[in-house]
Parts: sequence; structure tokens; C-alpha cells
Amino acid sequence: GNVYVFDHPLIQHKLTFIRDKNTGTKEFRELVDEVAALMAYEITRDMPLREVEVETPVAKAKCKVLEGKKLGLVPILRAGLGMVDGILKLIPAAKVGHLGLYRDPETLEPVQYYSKMPSDIGERELIVIDPMLATGGSASAGIRILKEMGAKQIKLMCLIAAPEGVERVQKDHPDVDIYVAAVDEKLDEKSYIIPGLGDAGDRLFG
Ligand code: PRP
Repeated sequence: GNVYVFDHPLIQHKLTFIRDKNTGTKEFRELVDEVAALMAYEITRDMPLREVEVETPVAKAKCKVLEGKKLGLVPILRAGLGMVDGILKLIPAAKVGHLGLYRDPETLEPVQYYSKMPSDIGERELIVIDPMLATGGSASAGIRILKEMGAKQIKLMCLIAAPEGVERVQKDHPDVDIYVAAVDEKLDEKSYIIPGLGDAGDRLFG
């Protein structure tokens, strides 16, 4: 799949303060929420429209509304939750499926502990959400699980990716496009993204 890096100035500006270790929890949450909304604005650029007619106070106008394509957001718990509200502000009709995965600290393998999806995920375009794409193990497993449940159209939205994670998802799921605010330099020996932002789940929820 393709990789789209959202280099909009507002996204880059806010991402800088998300990375800063001196940014406290309240501000961190607000910034993640705002960047998620800005990314949703960019990711919905190709949403299909249909024509309608409305009457303005002075004349008839041919206008457009969204065709009503069904969307689903799938945050990977916990950190993905931090981006959900921001996206829902722009796409309030989206359904939300929750997928619990944690990275085993020893093996780094993703372990599934929760899943609750809307019943019609096969008919929805799904956006998998996770602030961090490190080794790509979690995202890749999450996408595989959704495909096993019948999902057909999947996009991946992350704040920060490591090149390794991008490569992993592209290899495992060539049909999935990846949307990120930044691709960082590398992973360290503990598979943290460098320079990254630290542990997104901890910075959001403690
Ligand atoms: C972090 C992050 C991703 C995953 C990325 O979650 O939010 O889900 O690690 O790493 P990977 O690409 O190498 O799989 P973590 O497992 O720390 O769980 P949390 O969100 O509950 O803190």
C-alpha cells in the first residue's frame, strides 16, 4: 500500500508539542485529539459525494452532500482511544470497533485481549487507529484479525511510524494504505520509536 505523510503545518506544529516530554497529560490529550481531527480531514478528501438541491433564501442551488459511505474506526487499545474523539468530531456517523492488543514486553509479540466490532464490518471502510507504529506487529495483527472477521477495506492511521513498522505492514498487508503525521528515524533496542514521543498509552492514560 501507499504511505501518506501529512505534512500540513498545523499537524507538524502540534506534533512537535506532542513529542515534547515537558507537555503534560491534559495538553497531550488535547493535542492528540486535535491532530487526529486534522488527519481525519485529510484522510476524507476522497469521500464520495452526491448532488442535491437546496433552496437558499434567494434561489435554488445545486449542492453536494456525502454519499453516506459507511465508515468504521477501530482504535487499538489503549493508545488508539486517544485519537477516536477527534476523528468522530468530523465523522460523527462512523461506528467504532474496539480491539485490545498489547505488546508482550519480552517477545514483543502482540497479544489480543479484547475485541468488539460493529456487526456489519464487512460493509464498512475501516480506519485502524494507533498513535504508534513501531515494529508494526500490533497493527499487522490488528488488520489480520479484522480481515478474519470479514473486513474488506482497511486503512491505517498513525501519528508516528518507524520505517520498520511501515515496511512490516506493507509486506503483510499490501492492500492497506498507511496515513501518518511523521516517519521517524528508527527503533531502539527496546523497539521504541526514536525520536518518537515515548509511550503513547502511558502519556495518555498513565
Ligand atoms: C504500543 C502502541 C502500539 C504498539 C506499537 O502499545 O500504542 O499499539 O505499542 O508497537 P508495535 O508496532 O511494535 O506493535 P502498547 O502495547 O504499549 O499498549 P498500550 O497502548 O495499552 O499502552
